[in-house]
Amino acid sequence: MNSDEIKRGTYAREKGEVILREHEYDGIQEFDQKLPNWWLFTFYGGIAWFVIHWTLYYHTEVFQTDQQKIVSQVTALQEKKDAELAATLASLDDATLISKWSTDPVIVAAGEATFSINCVACHAADLSGMMDVGGNKIPLPGLPLTDGEWKYGAKPMDVFNIINKGTPVDSPGHNGAKMQAWGQMLTPKQVAEVTAFLISKNPKDFEG
Ligand code: HEC
Repeated sequence: MNSDEIKRGTYAREKGEVILREHEYDGIQEFDQKLPNWWLFTFYGGIAWFVIHWTLYYHTEVFQTDQQKIVSQVTALQEKKDAELAATLASLDDATLISKWSTDPVIVAAGEATFSINCVACHAADLSGMMDVGGNKIPLPGLPLTDGEWKYGAKPMDVFNIINKGTPVDSPGHNGAKMQAWGQMLTPKQVAEVTAFLISKNPKDFEG
């Protein structure tokens, strides 16, 4: 743009006239106006904002990105859960589960409540692992929990662990079905309560 054109532009703007650029394509011409200040301010402001934001969030420790926030919150939650589990495990063993937890009606009732919300779909309310459909017994995905067999160990803490951690990674599961780690959804106390409930339903399996 030479100085004549700039002058012409300023003059035209002052007069409120519209300047068109010389070239024309398909009968269409372009305006040759200075963009309004509010527009330019937003435009350059946007560029400046991007640089500041990008530097503060991605190249310094001043602010955290959403991803970093999520990772640190999940880590904090996991640490809290781990601590809770460690605290529960510290006071929990086979003998305690049998003699204290599984004989306490309040604990067993709490375990039964947890069971009826989370477990009946696959293990059935009567723990048989079977569903009655018009007189026919149809197996559910879970194993029966009253058959005297404890696939991952028959000690109370083995039962606690299979519920807490779910099917081990190296196990093919039961007919290809694996159980999730309930420790991700339930508190260690709830897992212990539901274990106590299962023990109370199988007293012979867990004698002394
Ligand atoms: C979505 C279906 C499903 C739900 C819901 C479920 N389980 Fe399971 N459960 C299974 C499957 C499948 C197995 C067999 C896993 C394997 O063989 O690795 C199993 C195995 C078990 C075992 C080992 C049984 C044995 O005979 O060794 C226990 C104990 C158990 N579940 C308890 C629970 C408890 C307690 C809950 C509720 C908190 C629950 N399950 C909820 C599917 C389920």
